[in-house]
Amino acid sequence: MSLASTEAGTVASELYGRIRSCTRCLLAKSRTHSVPGEGPLDAEVMFIGEAPGMNEDREGRPFVGAAGKFLTELIEAAGWQRDAVYITNVLKCRPPGNRDPLPNEIEACNGYIEEQLRLIDPLLLVSLGRYSMARYFPNARISKVHGQHREIEGRLFVPMYHPAAALHQGSLRQTIIEDFKKLPALLEQARALRQPVGGEPDERSPAEQMRLFD
Ligand code: URA
Repeated sequence: MSLASTEAGTVASELYGRIRSCTRCLLAKSRTHSVPGEGPLDAEVMFIGEAPGMNEDREGRPFVGAAGKFLTELIEAAGWQRDAVYITNVLKCRPPGNRDPLPNEIEACNGYIEEQLRLIDPLLLVSLGRYSMARYFPNARISKVHGQHREIEGRLFVPMYHPAAALHQGSLRQTIIEDFKKLPALLEQARALRQPVGGEPDERSPAEQMRLFD
């Protein structure tokens, strides 16, 4: 393990520890477990959902219920493995009854997403649903902008429907699948954004470069 990855691991453990014992908002009182997120710290792709539900609250892991099963299928439809991407949520604790996140809860949790973005530094950032989209596009309508990418802060950002939307509205299922199929090409584009001007060779091994397509 390289020194850089050892350091990232230490930073992540410390961050996850703070999230697990967080009392920044009242959700701390009703949660069973907070859900920091999971995935490799050097993931090129990061998904941000809304908030843990009942299953995630019980297990302390993101997207392990029905929406999570569909998310895993979508990631695989894009040709990737779930364990090659990083997955987290806007809120780290479950709102009671799965109600919508409140502005003060989003505000309280915001610093954690900031820290995760600095730590993982993904090339491609995918929001799932309107609460994670709102971080960059507070007034956009998901029905208009889903699947359309933008360059933001040196990475590509793509808003997607939340996978649970397809569970409630079956007609969205194929739309979401088609949107996810665009992701590998967007990742290629996102990699090109980080290539140094003048086309310096990429110093990662081919195996590392192809890591997501195993
Ligand atoms: N929905 C989310 O937004 N996140 C989860 O972790 C599970 C369901």
